Amino acid sequence: MPNKLIANKTANKTAKSQPVFIQRYIENKDEVRAELQQGLLARAATTMPKYLYDALGSRLFEAITELPEYYPTRVEASIFEQFLPEMAAVAGLGHTLIDLGAGNCEKAARMFETLRPAKYVAVDISVDFLKQALTTLQRQSPDFPMLGLGMDFSASLDLPSEIGTGSRLFFYPGSSIGNFTPADALLFLRQIHIACKQGAGQGGLLIGVDLVKSSTVLQAAYDDALGVTAAFNRNMLLHINQLLGSDFNIAQWQHRALFNTKLSRIEMHLDATEELTVRWDGGERKFAKNEGIHTENSYKYTVESFSQLLKNAGFQDVKPWQDAKQQFCVFWAKA
Ligand code: TRP
Repeated sequence: MPNKLIANKTANKTAKSQPVFIQRYIENKDEVRAELQQGLLARAATTMPKYLYDALGSRLFEAITELPEYYPTRVEASIFEQFLPEMAAVAGLGHTLIDLGAGNCEKAARMFETLRPAKYVAVDISVDFLKQALTTLQRQSPDFPMLGLGMDFSASLDLPSEIGTGSRLFFYPGSSIGNFTPADALLFLRQIHIACKQGAGQGGLLIGVDLVKSSTVLQAAYDDALGVTAAFNRNMLLHINQLLGSDFNIAQWQHRALFNTKLSRIEMHLDATEELTVRWDGGERKFAKNEGIHTENSYKYTVESFSQLLKNAGFQDVKPWQDAKQQFCVFWAKA
């Protein structure tokens, strides 16, 4: 869908302290509505996880990363802190750093000094949030070339030529790869591999992956005591109300997270606390008490299973770095 849209440059290229911004994710309201309706009318109702990240959702996710129960962000940061010089040694310096799902751009910014990228490309679906973050970052380093890309890369990694011809270092932290099914993760990693090959020199991927561990620890990370993750999940219904004109009453919906050991994934659901009907212009959906909407998955890997996935996607020289408790892993994969 995004590749059908025309790139629309909104930045003023002449002002040095303004990052160039390319907006490729322009929501077609009718398509969004059709997609949402189809999901809601399916026998097992679904919504698309990308709708978690409106402006408020992105802020709630930032709050999640500060929760005591949500270890992935902190543990990943500690791995980068400890091993970044080693990572730079194997990855090499002077790449175009392409940050997939950049969010507030903080993780990538922490690596600039050691990785010395020639250019920074921040990609995110939450366009306004990204613009703000990147503008702040550009003010701190006015002469460092930065490009913002507002796009949904999950379906297809269709990068514009403005990225340039330099060698490409993809950065995909936060275990966001876990939000794909393993089959889709393989397809996505293959696209990254191809995109690396399109740049000059030897490119590659630095990727953060959450590891299989006790269900208690995992479940707490996705259902915190303060209820921030619940708010993040339920906020999607407010976002959908805006997009579809539906009348979800969030008071009637409860967040539920469980670890599905067989499929090695955390599942996020929203369950109706009573029998209810959701209505929108052109449709309605009845929910029984306790009937759920499956909103997101977060697959957990072992070092071995994820190394194999990277190799199957075409990468070579896979190198893992873990924390002492082996909760999380950052991989380098050479294209
Ligand atoms: N990429 C994050 C993860 O899988 C996304 C996430 C964290 C999430 N908490 C969530 C998604 C709660 C939905 C609901 O860890």
